[in-house]
Amino acid sequence: MKLLIINGHVVDPSQGIDGLHDILIESGKIASISPKGKLKAPAKAKTIDAAGRFVIPGLVDMHVHLREPGFEHKETISTGTHAAVRGGFTSVCCMPNTSPVNDNAGITEYILKKAAQEGMCGVFPIGAVTKGQMGEELAEFGMMLEEGCVAFSDDGRPVVDSRIMRRALEYSRAFGACIISHSEDPALSLDGVMNEGLVSQSLGLVGIPRQAEETMVYRDVALAELTGGRVHIAHVSTEGSVRIIREAKTRGINVTAETCPHYFSVTEAACEGFNGNAKVNPPLRTEPDIAAIKAGLSDGTLDAIATDHAPHHRNEKQREFDQAPPGISGLETALGLTLALVREGVMDMTDLVEKMALKPSMILGLDRGTLAQGAVADITIVDADVEYDVNIDEFVSKGKNTPFAGWRLKGRAVATIVKGKVHEWEK
Ligand code: DOR
Repeated sequence: MKLLIINGHVVDPSQGIDGLHDILIESGKIASISPKGKLKAPAKAKTIDAAGRFVIPGLVDMHVHLREPGFEHKETISTGTHAAVRGGFTSVCCMPNTSPVNDNAGITEYILKKAAQEGMCGVFPIGAVTKGQMGEELAEFGMMLEEGCVAFSDDGRPVVDSRIMRRALEYSRAFGACIISHSEDPALSLDGVMNEGLVSQSLGLVGIPRQAEETMVYRDVALAELTGGRVHIAHVSTEGSVRIIREAKTRGINVTAETCPHYFSVTEAACEGFNGNAKVNPPLRTEPDIAAIKAGLSDGTLDAIATDHAPHHRNEKQREFDQAPPGISGLETALGLTLALVREGVMDMTDLVEKMALKPSMILGLDRGTLAQGAVADITIVDADVEYDVNIDEFVSKGKNTPFAGWRLKGRAVATIVKGKVHEWEK
């Protein structure tokens, strides 16, 4: 099957491309990519005219919760990957906080088999750092890597014991894999349910100080320095975390970091009215944090934008604010929210592709994030001008939990191509 994408504005930082190019796809791979009008069109190729659209490497989300096995009422590998494709993602990396936890090769194998049968896009599992994510005993990294895991994290929980984190960084270093840090000191976050500040006070809710995140970011950077291991800081939400990571990078420490669209789009004020859909961990912060995160994205301190897609059932989210589980369903709003930063001048399209496709692939060693000849034909076609209201009833994800319901966004994927297979929504 041959597919030709013509007239599109191709942005591919892996090859320094930013201009009108045509792409030929054959047997699920990029057969060639050339400046507009230079490609010899083969007979019998399906053609997509991408005039007026961006054509970019398929987005790679390095932080999602697919919930399967164990929490299929929140999401499944099928629904989560369908939502990913609708959002413009061609690959997702799924966190291990399932039930059972993905802490051994058997669970990894199960996830990958299910993904092969029912998945709509690439699925790359992230294995647990510790058995059962209990923080006590390291999991079998080697076996999980052999089965297909791409990194390790106890995400959802921190690795509290610094000695275990040290060992994890040493152990993973031997394999060249990174440890993804859910940076949270539970002694400081304790019973907190939102950012500690004026809003938590006015709502009478227990707050989580920013230092609960920052002390652990600092610890993990220090342990990366000690061990020479590679640490990736997940879901950065505070100005202080950005500062610590920036300084660590200046000193040559092996650290990378991601933030999520909700941390640069909304503040703690979204929790007002006890809005459980704005409850997330780490919590939404303040305007100065948003400014610092944007600066961190601009100067490269923050390497990646991931969704931390954390779908929960409507009934769970409708409980009292302090009882509702934290998390935001992010796959279907991430691209629109990030395109707002492009319009604002925080970043350009090349940066967007870098942070949402190329860097995540590089950090995790995935053969994705590029439109180079011979690469897997994972491509996202973006209409950056289309405006639409976020309608949770139209979400493909089972998780309708978003603080962005009713928001007007501009820009979305109009076609997502996974291994040469086209999923199109608007002509
Ligand atoms: O808000 C969150 N939800 N943060 C996490 O770290 C875990 C996630 C979840 O699994 O629901």
